[in-house]
Amino acid sequence: MKRRRILVLATGGTIAGAASSPHDTSGYRAGALPVEALMAALPEQEDIRIDARQAFSLDSKDALPEFWQALAREIARVQADPGIDGVVVTHGTDTLEETAWFLHLTLPLAKPVILTGAMRPATAASADGPMNLLQALRVAAQPRAARHGILVVMNSRIHHARHLRKAHSYHVDAFDSADAGPAGVVQDGFVGWLSTPCASAPRFAPDTPLGQVEILADYPGVSPALVAAVIHGGAQGLVWAGYGNGSISSAVQPMLDEARRRGLAIVRASRVGAGRVWRDETAGFVNASGLDPYKARIALMLALGAGMPRGRLQPLFDDLSYS
Ligand code: SIN
Repeated sequence: MKRRRILVLATGGTIAGAASSPHDTSGYRAGALPVEALMAALPEQEDIRIDARQAFSLDSKDALPEFWQALAREIARVQADPGIDGVVVTHGTDTLEETAWFLHLTLPLAKPVILTGAMRPATAASADGPMNLLQALRVAAQPRAARHGILVVMNSRIHHARHLRKAHSYHVDAFDSADAGPAGVVQDGFVGWLSTPCASAPRFAPDTPLGQVEILADYPGVSPALVAAVIHGGAQGLVWAGYGNGSISSAVQPMLDEARRRGLAIVRASRVGAGRVWRDETAGFVNASGLDPYKARIALMLALGAGMPRGRLQPLFDDLSYS
């Protein structure tokens, strides 16, 4: 049997985190350990040859849009190497959703690309990083994985970048795929798929310029002054994380209507975290459809940066909701 050759690209995060005590699962420094330390915790894999490279050493709260672009370029380069069969990216969990979604929207996939992380630092008793990394490697070793698009493996589940969300702030089982459910599971080294392959061609080039897009959330008593500061602050786009089906407080609705008439691209999303925003033709805004505010923002950054006409934004969001 041919040994699959998988490259691990380390970017930091809790999976490379170090604390002063094995009890400590929240007071630690993310991205402190080098990739060699992550590799040392892995058992030998007979059928996988693992290469590893430190690409970044970040706490993912500081993984900015330039990082998404640099990582996309790096993975594209690696995919072009005929000796590499797949890529695993280790990443902080705080913005894992954003990075995975950006890669999903921009990276042509010739080989499996799997992201993983950990909720407990590497120094914790019962750290989850080694098992997550091992399971991500098992998925990356399956050529079929590339046909699912960008995938994230956490806590024995495989998630599509499109559906992934961090749903708990510290549990090991912190990630889910909301209504869609996971794409698959990994158990005892075996991969079981629960969904049919659904990769789609990337919508944008990795080096597409990114428009400036802000997110504002609605809440009782939302400050009109805050909304004014954002809509007059130079942004090209705004994602409104509204109530329920994207409802907007009456106190600020006229300001948003006016900003839209002046040319600000406004996407109406929901702050709820699951479900979708159904069409409201009277509102006049673009509906996020099935995208949460964070994914909607990245889609809008790319669309505006690519110079997409306003009339194409709604079809884009409808389409992305199913991809
Ligand atoms: C980070 O996102 O880099 C820190 C938190 C984590 O990985 O869980």
